[in-house]
Amino acid sequence: MVAKPVIYIIGYGPLISDGIAELFGGKGFKVGISARTESRLAAGKEKLSAQGIEVGTAVIDVSEEPSVLAGLSKLVQELGEPNVLVFNVGSNGPPGTDLGPKPLEEITPAIFEKHWRISALGALHVSRWAVEHLKPLDGKRTLLFTGGGLSKDPRPNHAGLASSKAAMRNLSRVFYDVHKPNGLHVGLVTVRGFVTPESEKHSPKLIAEQYWKLYEEKDPESWTWEIDY
Ligand SMILES: NC(=O)c1ccc[n+]([C@@H]2O[C@H](COP(=O)([O-])OP(=O)(O)OC[C@H]3O[C@@H](n4cnc5c(N)ncnc54)[C@H](OP(=O)(O)O)[C@@H]3O)[C@@H](O)[C@H]2O)c1
Repeated sequence: MVAKPVIYIIGYGPLISDGIAELFGGKGFKVGISARTESRLAAGKEKLSAQGIEVGTAVIDVSEEPSVLAGLSKLVQELGEPNVLVFNVGSNGPPGTDLGPKPLEEITPAIFEKHWRISALGALHVSRWAVEHLKPLDGKRTLLFTGGGLSKDPRPNHAGLASSKAAMRNLSRVFYDVHKPNGLHVGLVTVRGFVTPESEKHSPKLIAEQYWKLYEEKDPESWTWEIDY
């Protein structure tokens, strides 16, 4: 029997990541999901399992390397090593919280560092692991990132989020260049709009298709680094 392919999604919730989980899971992938909140993962597992998808879960806070390593090791035990890994975490928070939108003068060094630890340092922790552990499928390994329009067009109320997303975008390009010769396709979906299930362009379902397009690019000559969507 042919082993099922495996995708890990780091940063699982109800929107983009759930769209990716449903799309890849529906195409036969086992799906590993992770987030900081256990109850979110339990609900996600129940929802995806009901669709016949084999799901593994791990509590991970990407800003802490020991948490990343322990959580990924749990997913390996549950599902095996992945062929595709998506770094989907963003440091955006609701208004009125440290990580929510606020004027530049309220971005303290501590708040700035929190954003950076999640989107930039978190991306490094996960990418370093992925380089070591991703397994080839149809001749390639795939590491994908979720970016945001703020990384290119910063706005005054989002200085912490925008700059940390810009750092992540930049890092993903370096990983793309360095690892292309090693058969590792690094891609980035830069989402340039507000995501809602009802959106005609920025629904989780349509955004997820952009990750599938990147995954489907088999010939390294055709590999795309960034899709601006
Ligand atoms: N939503 C939008 O309108 C929009 C627009 C442009 C770009 N984006 C980007 O798209 C990505 C996904 O956003 P989404 O809104 O669609 O959310 P989502 O995929 O539904 O969920 C993302 C999950 O990431 C988890 N997370 C947050 N901080 C984490 C951390 N430190 N370690 C591990 N997991 C963490 C959260 O769960 P826990 O809180 O349980 O950890 C959250 O449920 C983000 O990178 C975001 O910046 C979103």
